[in-house]
Amino acid sequence: MKNILRGLNVYLIGMMGSGKSTIGKILAERLHYRFLDTDEMIEKISHKTINQIFAEEGEASFRKLESAILQEISAYIRTVIATGGGIILCQDNWSHLRDGMVIWLDAPINLLVERLADDNTRPLLHQEDLTIKLTKLRQQRESLYQQADIILPITDNDTPEDIVEKLLQEIPLHVKPEFNPELN
Ligand code: S3P
Repeated sequence: MKNILRGLNVYLIGMMGSGKSTIGKILAERLHYRFLDTDEMIEKISHKTINQIFAEEGEASFRKLESAILQEISAYIRTVIATGGGIILCQDNWSHLRDGMVIWLDAPINLLVERLADDNTRPLLHQEDLTIKLTKLRQQRESLYQQADIILPITDNDTPEDIVEKLLQEIPLHVKPEFNPELN
């Protein structure tokens, strides 16, 4: 597996609450990769929480930071990256995501609602009914998430370890030929 990816970064995309960070950490361990989380990096660099950035500077400013962090990370190799759910919105971000393998963790709305019911760290979810807001966001973003190399539907019963096992089986099937000379 280590050789098949040949250092290629793995980007996890998907809605808030889909498990990108939890799954990313386990996947990184299994691949002997480093793990990074764009939201965590943004908070560290700005010395503010995501809530503070949204409240004080607005979403557009957060998106700029997100793109800048992604650009920096894209120079790394051998890294699993848990991205923020909205990273797919900016077309320019795709030029970096495309340099790696992009995986959409496609979790159903009911599971997201269950996981995010008591969360207050996501500014986009503060003002509206959770199910309605998540359904709207998913509808707006679905066609972008679908541009991933691997789409992994997640069910209520999957443990993070189950999901990582599935990914480890899928990844070799989706390595682009230019990154795997054995397939040429
Ligand atoms: C966002 C998702 C969050 C965070 C910010 C905006 C979104 O990250 O980047 O609150 O637009 O979906 P997670 O997907 O890690 O929760």
